[in-house]
Amino acid sequence: MTIEATQTEANRESASARSSAGGTIHPVWLRVTHWINAVAVVVMIGSGWEIYNASPLFPFSYPKAITIGGWLAGALLWHFAAMWLFVVNGLVYVALGLLTGRFRRKLLPIRPGEVVADMRAALKGQLSHDDLSVYNAVQKLLYLGVILAGVVVVLSGLAIWKPVQLQELTALFGGYEAARYVHFIAMAAIVGFLVIHVIMAFVVPKSLRAMIIGR
Ligand code: HEM
Ligand code: HEM
Repeated sequence: MTIEATQTEANRESASARSSAGGTIHPVWLRVTHWINAVAVVVMIGSGWEIYNASPLFPFSYPKAITIGGWLAGALLWHFAAMWLFVVNGLVYVALGLLTGRFRRKLLPIRPGEVVADMRAALKGQLSHDDLSVYNAVQKLLYLGVILAGVVVVLSGLAIWKPVQLQELTALFGGYEAARYVHFIAMAAIVGFLVIHVIMAFVVPKSLRAMIIGR
């Protein structure tokens, strides 16, 4: 009941927002930054795994077939090249998300009760995806969470890239070694998000269509 109530209210708000935007669910700037980000993140993960293989933190390595760069030096070049794409594109996305009010409108508020209710409904296959312009509470939590993981991966990445020049930042993470673990954990969180996210995009193909053509 509560799910229906909150969704109905959100639907009414989004319906008025949609009619003023000519039926567009995702504006162009969001779609462009989203897909640039998808490419950048895949390169960052693939090259990061190759870097990891040169000096593994844990008793496992990544199969060569799923890494990018071929060897350590090649992977570092890929990592630092895609880093610019990831950071500049990410800053544009976050700036526009804040300035246009999209984050406030689409990703907030997140109420714990709604997360639990929507999670239960999702696991029973009863969560509605009729109105793509409204995110359910689980989506909101995951999207805000992955944005946060993006911030952490950048800051910890900077800390291990320039540990001398940025020693205050590195110290904030508890030193170089600790920053490396933080960087790894943030990467793992993004990979975990990506697995669920991509599965859901294909389970609800019209959401994928909207992220490509806007509606
Ligand atoms: C501003 C952005 C970033 C910077 C400056 C950065 C920098 C670095 C540096 C310097 C290393 C080498 C660490 C070492 O020598 O052990 C590294 C490793 C790595 N990075 Fe990044 N990185 C960034 C973003 C990302 C992103 C977005 C991902 C993936 C989502 C990622 C995944 C990895 C992984 C998996 C490793 C190997 C972990 C390890 O063994 O230490 N990085 N990164
Ligand atoms: C190739 C893989 C990807 C596919 C197929 C994909 C697909 C989608 C789709 C279909 C949506 C709209 C979801 C909806 O209507 O509920 C979406 C939104 C979103 N995706 Fe992805 N995505 C991919 C990669 C990524 C990556 C790598 C990230 C971040 C690390 C990401 C972060 C997001 C975020 C934050 C949103 C919400 C954006 C907003 O409304 O402001 N996606 N994605």
